[in-house]
Amino acid sequence: MIDYTGNIPTFMKAAQQSDYGEPRNVLTLRENVPVPRELSSKQILVQVNSVSINPIDWKLLNGNLSFVSRYTFPHTPGSDVAGVIVDIGSEVKRFLIGDKVYGNVGVNGGSYAEYVRGDESMFALKPKSLTMDEAAAVPLACETSYQALFNKASPPVSTGSRVFICGGSSATGLFAIQLAVSVGAKVATTCSQRNFSLLEKLGYKITQVQEEIINDDQRQLFVIDYNTKDFGEELKGKEYDVVFDCVGGEQQWISAQKILKQGGQFITIVGDDTKTEMSLKNIATVGSSIINRKFWSVFSSEHHGYIMHVLSQTPEDLDDIRITYIETGKVKPIIDTVYDLQKDGVEALYSLYEKSKSGKAQGKLVLKIAD
Ligand SMILES: NC(=O)c1ccc[n+]([C@@H]2O[C@H](COP(=O)([O-])OP(=O)(O)OC[C@H]3O[C@@H](n4cnc5c(N)ncnc54)[C@H](OP(=O)(O)O)[C@@H]3O)[C@@H](O)[C@H]2O)c1
Repeated sequence: MIDYTGNIPTFMKAAQQSDYGEPRNVLTLRENVPVPRELSSKQILVQVNSVSINPIDWKLLNGNLSFVSRYTFPHTPGSDVAGVIVDIGSEVKRFLIGDKVYGNVGVNGGSYAEYVRGDESMFALKPKSLTMDEAAAVPLACETSYQALFNKASPPVSTGSRVFICGGSSATGLFAIQLAVSVGAKVATTCSQRNFSLLEKLGYKITQVQEEIINDDQRQLFVIDYNTKDFGEELKGKEYDVVFDCVGGEQQWISAQKILKQGGQFITIVGDDTKTEMSLKNIATVGSSIINRKFWSVFSSEHHGYIMHVLSQTPEDLDDIRITYIETGKVKPIIDTVYDLQKDGVEALYSLYEKSKSGKAQGKLVLKIAD
């Protein structure tokens, strides 16, 4: 048996930020960062193989979300991770040393490193069918969509539900389409022409003509190119049960109300503030518009629910995602780019942050830390 604990070094490589700011100004790769060896009873230490970048990472790095993340510097960022457990606390029940895991260590970060420490509840066994790069691409984006469709939507999305997904080519949108289709929902989405190939890669047949829709063809997706058409006008009165918004901005809500059935729900993971510019004025404006929409969702004749969903990570959800959706082949991650931290250095991380911030990623952005 491999003695993992005996092989753990004292120091490791990690990306560290010295302050809030732009990646090139505040982020460096350090070689002498202490490995977080001290574990509380419920914590595990994971030797990291791969991590993935999410928009929350640059929102946290630039300080726009500093009211939820009061870091002391230097700070190691990163939340999504896949790797191997090399040490466990005395009361860890769910894992053994040597288990391969995937997970999300949350806003306190720490995964852009050779080793990351976290509570066992932040992790679950890695899907056997995925490589480490693929596994690191799943937790945050897939679980967010899973919870929106199956926990927040009421009734949960299931066979026959009519679901519209704003932003079908986004990481969260790509997972949402697959999750909804796999339970038998009828799905339509917005996606630009340049990204149709991502949906085709998942095996979907794209149609942009409503008359061509064949009701019992589960592989068929009705797609609206958001650059040329407004989905609210295109699908006006079509009685959708749920609009799941992975794009944000007020227009998504305005368009959604035209296509939702009475009592249908608009679930957004972004809200109006797509850049997360958390000035006091912005927070006040966003807060009052949410209260306003919630008020009208109760008192207007249409009763359209307005739900702002924020991921609340649970190991049970990650287990269900693995067992029910990934290992059965119903859901898979689409990856835009994999860079290698050992070969490409910190430039790799800068490029991944820039791509994510551009809003033009075509799937998940992955950084390999070790083979
Ligand atoms: N609340 C939560 O817990 C939570 C969790 C995860 C993510 N989020 C948020 O959800 C958002 C999406 O995250 P993500 O990782 O899925 O994003 P992402 O993968 O970076 O999204 C990029 C994709 O969005 C598409 N897109 C951009 N504008 C669009 C529009 N107006 N209509 C349709 N598609 C559009 C782009 O396609 P084109 O190239 O065609 O423009 C691109 O393919 C981010 O704001 C993120 O912070 C929130």
